[in-house]
Amino acid sequence: MCGIIGYIGKRKVVPVLIDGLKRMEYRGYDSAGLAYIRDGEIVAVKSMGKIARLEQQLQDVDAESHIGVAHTRWATHGEPNEKNAHPHLDCTGRIAVVHNGIVENYRALRKYLQKQGHRFTTETDTEVIAHLIEEYYKKDIPFIDALTSALLQIEGTYGLAILNADEPNKLYAARHGSPVIIGKGEKENFVASDAAAIIRYTNRVIYLNEGEVAEVTDDGFEIFTLRKDRVKPEVQKLTMTLQELEKGGYPHFMLKEIFEQPATVRNSFRGRLNLEMGTARLNGLKSHLDVIEKLKRIVITACGTSWHAALIGEYLIEELARIPVEVEYASEFRYRSPVLDDGTAVFVISQSGETADTLAALREAHNQGVSVFGIVNVVGSTIARETDAGVYIHAGPEIGVASTKAFTSQITVLALTALMLGRRRGIVSTERGYELASHLAKIPEKIKWILDSQTANIKKIAEKYHKKNNALFLGRGINFPVALEGALKLKEISYIHAEGYPAAEMKHGPIALIDENMPVFFIAIDDLMYKKVVSNIEEVRSRKGKVIAIATLGNEEIRRYADDVVYIPETDYLLSPLLTVIPMQLFAYYTAVLRGCSIDQPRNLAKSVTVE
Ligand code: AGP
Ligand code: GLU
Repeated sequence: MCGIIGYIGKRKVVPVLIDGLKRMEYRGYDSAGLAYIRDGEIVAVKSMGKIARLEQQLQDVDAESHIGVAHTRWATHGEPNEKNAHPHLDCTGRIAVVHNGIVENYRALRKYLQKQGHRFTTETDTEVIAHLIEEYYKKDIPFIDALTSALLQIEGTYGLAILNADEPNKLYAARHGSPVIIGKGEKENFVASDAAAIIRYTNRVIYLNEGEVAEVTDDGFEIFTLRKDRVKPEVQKLTMTLQELEKGGYPHFMLKEIFEQPATVRNSFRGRLNLEMGTARLNGLKSHLDVIEKLKRIVITACGTSWHAALIGEYLIEELARIPVEVEYASEFRYRSPVLDDGTAVFVISQSGETADTLAALREAHNQGVSVFGIVNVVGSTIARETDAGVYIHAGPEIGVASTKAFTSQITVLALTALMLGRRRGIVSTERGYELASHLAKIPEKIKWILDSQTANIKKIAEKYHKKNNALFLGRGINFPVALEGALKLKEISYIHAEGYPAAEMKHGPIALIDENMPVFFIAIDDLMYKKVVSNIEEVRSRKGKVIAIATLGNEEIRRYADDVVYIPETDYLLSPLLTVIPMQLFAYYTAVLRGCSIDQPRNLAKSVTVE
């Protein structure tokens, strides 16, 4: 959720830390801070708000220091003010800690430490970590021993980077439940929660495993378990490029990511479609296919936008593979006792691969002894590593907090999975398989058509409605989850209250909300339900609601019913969400721009929610 970076090496540390923080700012951003060691002392600087403010506050950017840690915070305990910003120090001011996660037993630890004479200066849970290490760090006790003893007392989750002023040549890191990687450079090393923070300097990384601690110097590092057993590190190569992390001429990451979708959807099916055989090949699931194709039930669990993709997956898999599917919010799934009997497997969907609720659902499923498969974007993320097998969606780094390109790539992979299972189970014919595969292959150019020819139109629609306080999004069948996603996008970045509904459900309640101030988006494409949707449109119009229709190119008739029409090219009904969602993403984007909202970093949100 928050971002952590630590550095030790030949460069001056402050600019490295600031640059790293900026690249992670999308993760969490209510406050920020850093600490470095100079002349045997720790210097800490903290600030409210964005990294730019911290930068202004730093008088000594050029400080002659080559070791430090930094943090962007998304507060869980204690107000997001300057005092509560990380790093947190012990009583002596010689131990500095930055922390991602939650210390669940912090009240008890704080009470105990106060009794021992420790003075606390913040309201955070994190501060107990600094004092607890101090408590164990007595004469003749090596710092690493004090650190592991302290960590053994902590319940909850942590990704940590730690400085000890007594050891100006060593940086410490630890992981339990929140990601930490070590970046390996030449005469320099990095610690980070996110590869984006260090990719500029190195692409060789080591992912710390649960319950591991690292001791990092400028020319090496050692990894231990909390019981001090040495662990052999495995160096991996990152495929991410710096270019992918820059805006590339777009004013916001979100807009860049919306416009990347022709390429990212293509990347999701590249090398996976077999047109001739009318099927798909997913190497990540290969060794488990015998089991998967015989499943009696699939449970898909996820949060937010990934949950909407899961709902679309339900339509796809049930329609093409005839395996019953249930979709569960990960946050709910883990706290009820889900029946996961023989013949059931769980699929988890996550862009970040770090969402705490989804990870907990995965672990719950494992505890119950069922297989768990992942559909994940971030390579090497915790969820990707803990699933039995899975498929990467290959959408590239998604920086905008509002998920766009990950959604369309998730749907693409779900379509491939459903097609593959349908073919293997003999439900989808070669001919139908070929038809679907060829339609999928043409989706990128159709997304591009929408972006090229409809954006100006959508901007105008946003101009018309951006001052409204409410909006409704309605769709049917496989486009009902797209209506939910359209509403979520608008809520997240423009702060307009919006709801998604199945179009036919409107008359069972929400219709009471309709008057001349209510814009209503209808997904009214040429499918089996088109006529029924038109009737729903009439119901809205007769109550003076404003209708914006997303319709199939060539349908002129719809202009008679709708105040505004956005066109999308024709495609197979089952793949239509890949197109119908694009106008909704653009509408949310332009509306938020007109309202002067912070597009890539909407208030109260963080890119990946690593707390419950
Ligand atoms: C989407 O725009 C969100 N900001 C959010 O709902 C997100 O989809 C959710 O938190 C799940 O994240 P994940 O895909 O990284 O697990
Ligand atoms: N729980 C810590 C706090 O509230 C860390 C939050 C974070 O992960 O940013 O300060």
